[in-house]
Amino acid sequence: MLSGAPPVPNGSGPWCENEKVADLFQLFLFLHVLGAIVVFGPVFLFPVIARQGQMSPQNGPFAIALGEFIERRIVIPGAIVQGITGVALILIAGRDLTIPANRWLIGAIILYAIAVTFAITVQARNAEKMVLLTSGGPPPGPPPAGAPSGPPSEIAALGKKLQQGGMLLTVLVTLIVLLMVTKPGF
Ligand code: HEM
Repeated sequence: MLSGAPPVPNGSGPWCENEKVADLFQLFLFLHVLGAIVVFGPVFLFPVIARQGQMSPQNGPFAIALGEFIERRIVIPGAIVQGITGVALILIAGRDLTIPANRWLIGAIILYAIAVTFAITVQARNAEKMVLLTSGGPPPGPPPAGAPSGPPSEIAALGKKLQQGGMLLTVLVTLIVLLMVTKPGF
């Protein structure tokens, strides 16, 4: 081989090992980014689903149950898989998290831990409670004369908590994606 010519892959040796590691990194990065779209995309649609449910009270319980189902069956398990593919990326690339260039990852992992803990311990429980409170559907017929308009106060209060929790999770996910994409050095 001429000196200075690029090494030729022959199925063995350090050059090939590096290429295998790069391929593995690409595969996990693909799964990780696909996960970000599939798992967290629906989170940005929760306000749309909730708004449609409010505008059409007979479909309200369905909208609430759909939101709760997406959260429990897609977002929470998917978020955990997202953490696993994230850890795999760190291990495959052999990233040292203590060097300044990689410290953004520590920030992202802390935000991720807060988001997952909040989603499991607060948001999912409130969503489940909301499904139970509304699963009977609205009472038949028009409301009695003099009855206050809008949902009962317990449902309204829980709805507000869910809305605020959803906003918090949206901000956390947006910050995590911002860190993952910009990779700022600290
Ligand atoms: C809400 C959860 C998460 C979302 C939405 C997310 C999203 C993303 C996205 C979109 C990228 C691609 C960035 C790019 O190539 O420009 C990325 C890369 C990456 N993520 Fe995450 N991620 C999440 C959680 C995590 C966690 C928990 C870890 C670590 C335990 C992690 C580790 C990584 C690593 C190592 C990369 C590769 C960065 C590079 O290309 O150098 N991610 N993430």
